[in-house]
Amino acid sequence: MTDGKAVIVVEGLSRRFGDVTAVNGLSLKIQEGEVFGLLGHNGAGKTTTIRLLTGVLSPHGGEARVLGLDPTRDGPALRGRTGVLTETPALDERLTARENLSYYADLYGVPRHEVPARVEGLLEEFELADRADEPVGRYSKGMRQRLALARALLPGPELLFLDEPTTGLDPVAAREVRELIVRLSGEEGRTVVLCTHNLVEAQRLCHRVGVLEHGRLVALGTPAELVRGLDRGLRVEVELSPGDEGAVGALRGLPGVLEVVEERPGLLGVKVASPRVVPEIAAAVVGAGGRLYRLQPQEPTLEDFYLALHGGKGGR
Ligand SMILES: Nc1ncnc2c1ncn2[C@@H]1O[C@H](COP(=O)(O)OP(=O)(O)O)[C@@H](O)[C@H]1O
Ligand SMILES: [Mg+2]
Repeated sequence: MTDGKAVIVVEGLSRRFGDVTAVNGLSLKIQEGEVFGLLGHNGAGKTTTIRLLTGVLSPHGGEARVLGLDPTRDGPALRGRTGVLTETPALDERLTARENLSYYADLYGVPRHEVPARVEGLLEEFELADRADEPVGRYSKGMRQRLALARALLPGPELLFLDEPTTGLDPVAAREVRELIVRLSGEEGRTVVLCTHNLVEAQRLCHRVGVLEHGRLVALGTPAELVRGLDRGLRVEVELSPGDEGAVGALRGLPGVLEVVEERPGLLGVKVASPRVVPEIAAAVVGAGGRLYRLQPQEPTLEDFYLALHGGKGGR
């Protein structure tokens, strides 16, 4: 990630639909080369934000600069430099992958003489070359998503918007798409704006994330920064013989233990005030004659942060 050059600058951006304010005074900067995650519940305003940034919708307030351009006024120029993967990408089912890409290459204004090489390169890169001449109607979901991503890359974009690219994919296909995202940003240096519901994915892929709630940005930072702000002690997983009341009682009475939750027989979630209490847990279990199978401090995750933010059971 290079420092300092903002490819997206948003100031007070707003958009309403009737009585609903889908995006509400959003201000944000996204740097070149960054993978930026846009998180939030269904209806939080993620897709609307992307549509505003790509010029599909006009704002009712505020402004956005994307690659130095105004998406509302400079839509055509912007489309040649950005790739968009929408939530439910439409592909022509009757056409083959090769035909789909060639068709869209024309539409995106890729110079004619460059089309065949560009299309072949993408078919190879996205591992579709073997089946490039089959109608897309016969493709699996994962293959379709790879094709849709390949299509988004046709113009050779420096900036990519990916709206829930792994939703609905099986674990293997989802992992392939995640690996592609890593490659597109890491090796190829593109900026990626990624909407996702998947907090594990966001933590793994994103340099920074922003959380939207009713169109407002309620949190912004690197996953590590956000998690650091969680003031909730350290959680330790403790596995011992099921039904060992003596050991559980000893843990409950141990100084520095804030909470002991029996998550299932033999598995305790123990919240402690500091890492210094961890060895005391082992001593207390063994001291009470318990049998200890596992003792594992848990790093707080972006999911913990998200649940705490939304007042959910942030009990991890
Ligand atoms: N074209 C539209 N017409 C009316 N309401 C819309 C439209 N697009 C989005 N909305 C509303 O705006 C809010 C934000 O939607 P959206 O941006 O799709 O959220 P997300 O992508 O985070 O799930 C929701 O309440 C949604 O119902
Ligand atoms: Mg959406």
